[in-house]
Amino acid sequence: MSRSEGVMALPRVVVHVAVSLDGSTTGFPPNVGEFYRLAGQWEEDATLVGSRTILDSPVGTSADPPDAAGAWSASNRSERPLLAIVDSGGRVKCWGALAGAGVWKAAVSLGSRRTSVQHHEFLRRQGVESLVVGDNRVELRAALERLRRDFDVRVLRVDSGGELSGALLREGLVSEVSLLSIRSSWGRGDGTGSGRSMADTGTRSSP
Ligand SMILES: NC(=O)c1ccc[n+]([C@@H]2O[C@H](COP(=O)([O-])OP(=O)(O)OC[C@H]3O[C@@H](n4cnc5c(N)ncnc54)[C@H](OP(=O)(O)O)[C@@H]3O)[C@@H](O)[C@H]2O)c1
Repeated sequence: MSRSEGVMALPRVVVHVAVSLDGSTTGFPPNVGEFYRLAGQWEEDATLVGSRTILDSPVGTSADPPDAAGAWSASNRSERPLLAIVDSGGRVKCWGALAGAGVWKAAVSLGSRRTSVQHHEFLRRQGVESLVVGDNRVELRAALERLRRDFDVRVLRVDSGGELSGALLREGLVSEVSLLSIRSSWGRGDGTGSGRSMADTGTRSSP
């Protein structure tokens, strides 16, 4: 276990997010090529994604290949990052499709005591590790500590909308924020409680 003066080590957390002129993270056409070209510079050990971001993505509702665990074995290449999804509700089911994307070497689902036993069993069959960190929702600091300790994640890039990124910011867990400004677009006009903007979250640095 990596400790410094009694404090458990955390990964360096980078929030890289595209924002429209009104500070929204959704509701505008993404510039996917530019977004991931810039994202590549961090060479992350893990990508942290929120469940809603996965469910809203093209693979979110896709049917899994019959052998999802096999798909993860085939995808397991050391140079690839780990995929970590915050999902205490156990809503993400498309693990085989995520393995098939060929982007990540392995996956871990971050849940809480609220996550059902059935979902943990489902994850096991899918070849996905599951961590229980928190009673109701995922305790984000504890989850980051576990990713560092158990998976040696030193650099973690957050690929999510305003809700998860905002929660990490509020808890002072973010080391760096990268904003890709989509200057030609106006978002969904959020920042008013829809949970999809990072507005009002502040930008404290991690300890
Ligand atoms: N503009 C960009 O660069 C960008 C990048 C990625 C995605 N997006 C878009 O963003 C949208 C989704 O963003 P979103 O903000 O609605 O959802 P999200 O980023 O997927 O965040 C929701 C997830 O965060 C967890 N969460 C939120 N607050 C938490 C807290 N305080 N403690 C613990 N866990 C917490 C939730 O956990 P529970 O499961 O426990 O509720 C849920 O899994 C999608 O439409 C996607 O296309 C935009």
